[in-house]
Amino acid sequence: MGTGLDRFLWSVLLLLPVFGQSEALPESWLPGEYSDTISDAQRFLSDYNSTAEEVFFHSVSASWNYNTNITDHNSKLQVSASLEEQAFVEAWGIKAKQVFSSGVLDTLPDPKDKKLMEKIMLLGAANLLPKEREEYNTILSTMDNIYSTSKVHPQPNISWSLEPELTKIMANSRSYKTLLYAWEGWHNASGVPLKQYYPSFVGLSNKASRADGFQDTGDDWRSWYETETFRQDLEEIYKTIEPLYRNLHAFVRRQLYNQYGPKYINLKGPIPAHLLGNMWAQTWNNIYDMMIPFPDKPNIDVTDEMGYNATHMFRVAEEFFTSLGLERMPEEFWEGSMLVKPQGREVVCHASAWDFYNRKDFRIKQCTTVTMEQLFTVHHEMGHIQYYLQYKDKPMGFRSGANPGFHEAIGDVLSLSVSTPKHLETINLLESVTSDIETDTNYLLKMALEKIAFLPFGYLIDLWRWDVFSGKTPPERYNADWWYLRTKYQGICPPTRRTEEHFDAGAKYHIPGNTPYIRYFVSFILQFQFHEKLCEAAKHTGPLHTCDIYRSAEAGAILKKVLQAGSSESWPVVLQDAIGTNKLNASSLMKYFEPIIEWLNKQNVNETLGWPDFNWVPPMPEGYPEDIGKPVNTTPLTSKMARSNASLKNSVTSRGLRSPLQNWKRCEGNSCVRVFRAACLMFKTPLSVPQQRWTCKREGEYKLPQSETIHEIYLKECLFVLTPLAPM
Ligand SMILES: *[C@@H]1O[C@H](CO)[C@@H](O)[C@H](O)[C@H]1NC(C)=O
Ligand SMILES: *[C@@H]1O[C@H](CO)[C@@H](O)[C@H](O)[C@H]1NC(C)=O
Ligand SMILES: *[C@@H]1O[C@H](CO)[C@@H](O)[C@H](O)[C@H]1NC(C)=O
Ligand SMILES: *[C@@H]1O[C@H](CO)[C@@H](O)[C@H](O)[C@H]1NC(C)=O
Ligand SMILES: *[C@@H]1O[C@H](CO)[C@@H](O)[C@H](O)[C@H]1NC(C)=O
Ligand SMILES: *[C@@H]1O[C@H](CO)[C@@H](O)[C@H](O)[C@H]1NC(C)=O
Ligand SMILES: *[C@@H]1O[C@H](CO)[C@@H](O)[C@H](O)[C@H]1NC(C)=O
Ligand SMILES: *[C@@H]1O[C@H](CO)[C@@H](O)[C@H](O)[C@H]1NC(C)=O
Ligand SMILES: [Zn+2]
Repeated sequence: MGTGLDRFLWSVLLLLPVFGQSEALPESWLPGEYSDTISDAQRFLSDYNSTAEEVFFHSVSASWNYNTNITDHNSKLQVSASLEEQAFVEAWGIKAKQVFSSGVLDTLPDPKDKKLMEKIMLLGAANLLPKEREEYNTILSTMDNIYSTSKVHPQPNISWSLEPELTKIMANSRSYKTLLYAWEGWHNASGVPLKQYYPSFVGLSNKASRADGFQDTGDDWRSWYETETFRQDLEEIYKTIEPLYRNLHAFVRRQLYNQYGPKYINLKGPIPAHLLGNMWAQTWNNIYDMMIPFPDKPNIDVTDEMGYNATHMFRVAEEFFTSLGLERMPEEFWEGSMLVKPQGREVVCHASAWDFYNRKDFRIKQCTTVTMEQLFTVHHEMGHIQYYLQYKDKPMGFRSGANPGFHEAIGDVLSLSVSTPKHLETINLLESVTSDIETDTNYLLKMALEKIAFLPFGYLIDLWRWDVFSGKTPPERYNADWWYLRTKYQGICPPTRRTEEHFDAGAKYHIPGNTPYIRYFVSFILQFQFHEKLCEAAKHTGPLHTCDIYRSAEAGAILKKVLQAGSSESWPVVLQDAIGTNKLNASSLMKYFEPIIEWLNKQNVNETLGWPDFNWVPPMPEGYPEDIGKPVNTTPLTSKMARSNASLKNSVTSRGLRSPLQNWKRCEGNSCVRVFRAACLMFKTPLSVPQQRWTCKREGEYKLPQSETIHEIYLKECLFVLTPLAPM
């Protein structure tokens, strides 16, 4: 998901590795001499605070350089900066443990100082022996490299990266075989080579966590949530929302059945994992076009209307933050960030937001493409930056979210407003919104495809990883247990046979990237709790899903307080202060989706909820994979296509094709036309068509414009021709 990571917050600050010999550190980075007194403890903390800023700036910079320019040289620099950081963590942690007694810590006038000291005493990877640390850092860097540079080659001279090619295919192709090829190709290319590294990583990581007094790294990660009953609480929340998920699943499965037929979709079984519009089937909004409850209502996927570039998307997001009375992005942000994928070098495309800990540099790295989905990713990442900005004057130890889920929730809370038809109208992406029950249903279904579809995925990733860390899932069951959880919670199955030769968990960024994942599940529950409260503050009336907090200073003030606290208070306290409860609770989410759940219930009266045929898998298509990448022959309209004829008519006549991707201008002489990429539904294959408005002609030929050829286009002609009405 566009969910980036504030990896440095957590893995660097608390866990990331580094090398041990204090000699490797410059004198000025070493702790001085302290005695076991209150005033020396305070002096120690203050010295730590200023030195840590320098050390972390140094290591984050090295990591940024590597992530935006993957080379061996930069990898070495990154590994060595990590080692220095770990040496720093070790030197100060050991010093604190040696010098300060619990007697002194308990009598510190400010109890927060004790909390800071305890954080410093956790060494994380700095617990490891120097050789192990080096191995640990090198494995992490290698895994990042493998994941970020993996490619799929449908033909020897064609190369698909995850971003943008494979992501686009997963989102836009409606060809069972093409999707299968992209899915399998990626899972093979990224997962398989990672597998050999993962067990050693797990061993070292556990060793480091155990030295800090945890049972294993899973236990370590869960401790950040400071809740004894964390696992049970989550399971309870999951049980609450599971019926919603099953309803959505059954509805989507039926629509996919209509699209792909009984051979590939079993109405009592799990859904093949490659058909849901996303490489990991984690959000399903990209197949909204197949799901639209009321196709005659305005299209609320405004990708085609955006006409933005990447910078403009970030400006739009920034403007929402400032409308709430929050901070602008500083100059350094605009100068330093990487907002589009650069040419001529490898980068880690996975979107992320960076705090350089010098209170000046904050950056986003994102291979932005101009789609509505990415607009939300932009808000998501900028939510992290806003958090960094608001807590930048706190001591280093408190520059993190109240818990990691808070950090992930902020930008998403704004997106819940941005995506409303009302707001899209405000920023000129939708014209004249009619607010009626059918438009509402369309909107809520789209939101459900994004938010509810994600819940089981967000939950199971760390269920898997916690079991890996605890040893319950040994290396020889990595893939089997992964697919067991994927089927149990998500109701999806692998579309081809997968064995222990494969490592499909590794095909998801956060596994090789070593970013904990349960934060996203927490965020998806929490963001609705925030939304409800902020809407109340903004004096919203009417159903929760219609609320837009844009320009509400009152809502902004609540958010600001949460952000400024950083992690200086425990999260239940922060939550209580902000919204009057100290628990995660799914009832706001339930309230938000109530109307669509009712509607789905009615649609599903004849459906089997769940997937009793648990072990079912689809057959392999004939002619796969030999005919991937070959042009599709022109196909005359046959009876087999009659069904899609009806849906084509439906979708084209009323509001134009609602498929994908960029639009841009093409000018000849003085006249410009907008150029869209859209799907020719007749063939379920993407086409590139110059358009301003759509009309549908039954006959004629359409030739692809030479200049706009993109590799997933195989069609030579299309029986339905879409012609521009007028130049722009
Ligand atoms: C990428 O890193 C290499 C060093 O490995 C350096 O020579 C090159 O200039 C860098 N490229 C950019 C665009 O920063
Ligand atoms: C790939 O190579 C073949 C033969 O060398 C050539 O005919 C074809 O045009 C190439 N395709 C692309 C996309 O470069
Ligand atoms: C993926 O790997 C399997 C073998 O494990 C192989 O049979 C299959 O052809 C590969 N598929 C792709 C698309 O690379
Ligand atoms: C992006 O769009 C803005 C206007 O919104 C324009 O000022 C800027 O030059 C554009 N940038 C690029 C790289 O095209
Ligand atoms: C930590 O250091 C930063 C920068 O020197 C400063 O703004 C902040 O006030 C310091 N906090 C404490 C508690 O020393
Ligand atoms: C969740 O919130 C609802 C409504 O505020 C309340 O009735 C319910 O008891 C809460 N559930 C838990 C587990 O706290
Ligand atoms: C359920 O099945 C009944 C009987 O076949 C049919 O009349 C009804 O339209 C179906 N309902 C839905 C929502 O498909
Ligand atoms: C497709 O729809 C058109 C009218 O929209 C109709 O004339 C044509 O007969 C239909 N084709 C089939 C095969 O149903
Ligand atoms: Zn994030």
